Amino acid sequence: MRKLAAGNWKMNGLGADLPQLEALMADHAQPAVDVVICGPATLLTRMAATGITVGGEDCHPAASGAHTGDISAPMLADAGATHVITGHSERRTDHSETDAQFAAKTEAGWAAGLHVILCIGETEAQYRAGDTLDVLRAQMDGSIPDDATAATTTIAYEPVWAIGTGLTPTPQEIADVHAALRAYLTARFGDDGATMRLLYGGSVKASNANDIFALANVDGALVGGASLKAADFSPIITALENAD
Ligand code: 13P
Repeated sequence: MRKLAAGNWKMNGLGADLPQLEALMADHAQPAVDVVICGPATLLTRMAATGITVGGEDCHPAASGAHTGDISAPMLADAGATHVITGHSERRTDHSETDAQFAAKTEAGWAAGLHVILCIGETEAQYRAGDTLDVLRAQMDGSIPDDATAATTTIAYEPVWAIGTGLTPTPQEIADVHAALRAYLTARFGDDGATMRLLYGGSVKASNANDIFALANVDGALVGGASLKAADFSPIITALENAD
């Protein structure tokens, strides 16, 4: 499985930002790792037209229907997406979404032929209470469907307290969590769990990417703020290409 440098533009991105993707493509014409930018639904078709691999940031569990304002997985695929994020903590916080809904969205993504980047992560209070691994196991129990495979699914560990804050766990903490996630996935999914990509996300920048990518069981990153500008994301892709 190739490593993955994934961007998440969140509620950012207008047509005026498309040259950032063209610059990124120019820097990485034939990247040695997978590069995906997940962007707002309004921009996906134009993002895909640059030639970059694109993903949605969320999808509805249903393929179509009376759900005003929602976007389905087949719509994302139709717009040119090959990936979709599910389970992002901002969906929990902003829209009170649950593990069961994330599982349904993940199934919907697969049904539309999309590769799912499924996020998990503990809050600061849970981290401080020492509950990180229990929280992550419960989230994985509830949100990863039983038929997940390494080909269809990537897991992204994103501590909520590290998102957009400039804070990160220590390298040892990331390594310990990723080792525990790998053990869980292997126990539950066998060979698929042993090879399912595990991303780290939360304040990844060019300045910390080398240290994070050197860790065992870190197969890439899910990057928010630093994916918006080619000048910031390009060195992160290079760091992942150069990691062992
Ligand atoms: P930041 O890289 O801005 O901390 O965001 C991480 C994230 O939430 C990616 O999904």
